[in-house]
Amino acid sequence: MKKSIVRTLAGLLWFGTSLAMADGDPVAGKKKFYTCEGCHSIPGYTNTYPTYQVPRIGGQHPDYVVSALKAYKEDERQHGSMKGNAMNLSDQDMEDIAAFVSKYRGMNASLPVTGDPQAGRSKAAMCASCHSEDGNSENTMFPRLAGQYESYLIRALKDYKAGRRTNPMMMGFASTLDEKDMQDIAAFYASQKKGLTVPVDQ
Ligand code: HEC
Ligand code: HEC
Repeated sequence: MKKSIVRTLAGLLWFGTSLAMADGDPVAGKKKFYTCEGCHSIPGYTNTYPTYQVPRIGGQHPDYVVSALKAYKEDERQHGSMKGNAMNLSDQDMEDIAAFVSKYRGMNASLPVTGDPQAGRSKAAMCASCHSEDGNSENTMFPRLAGQYESYLIRALKDYKAGRRTNPMMMGFASTLDEKDMQDIAAFYASQKKGLTVPVDQ
């Protein structure tokens, strides 16, 4: 009796997951990503003012990619060229693109960093409950941070602290960090070999 209930529940869960994953079409997404490649598919490509690296989105959770694109489209997150790029995307376009970029998972060479990754490791302990210990969260509610560029991570944390990004949870956490904390934590996540990557076929 009990066993069959467990099996039914597991079946429902599996069904739910496979439905969620069926949303985006990675083949269509690859084509739609064409206009994004000039910035996102070039390793180390840099945003001009202010200067920080265009985030790695290869291997990012699809749910987070979609929510980030919606945030630009709906002006919850400010960035001139990303607004321009997200503006004309439909929900289906976003799902397709997310399905495409999320299938890249990297084993990278460690990125060069300016902060102290060892100090960052202990400072990042309070982030692990959501982002996991090394920043490779398997929970799709929380973006992956491992393998992300240090300069982008610092920029993101400063944006939360300054209220330019408005996620209440992250505004709270970032408000407890000073510049050196941000730099060290960013260095720790950027140093992870397993993690985000540039969505381009090697
Ligand atoms: C001119 C360069 C440029 C182009 C073209 C571009 N992006 Fe971006 N993208 C950026 C920059 C810079 C950021 C970081 C902006 C910020 O600080 O919020 C970004 C951020 C993002 C993010 C959020 C990443 C995160 O970790 O939160 C996603 C998702 C994204 N871009 C997807 C796309 C898609 C999809 C396209 C094409 C439809 C695209 N971008 C085109 C430069 C670009
Ligand atoms: C309670 C859960 C939780 C904890 C703990 C947490 N975060 Fe987050 N974090 C999130 C969520 C949710 C988002 C996505 C918010 C958004 O859409 O802007 C996020 C986003 C981020 C981003 C932006 C990622 C990107 O690609 O733009 C960074 C960087 C980050 N967190 C770093 C940290 C650091 C560093 C800590 C610890 C000091 C931390 N987080 C603690 C939930 C959490």
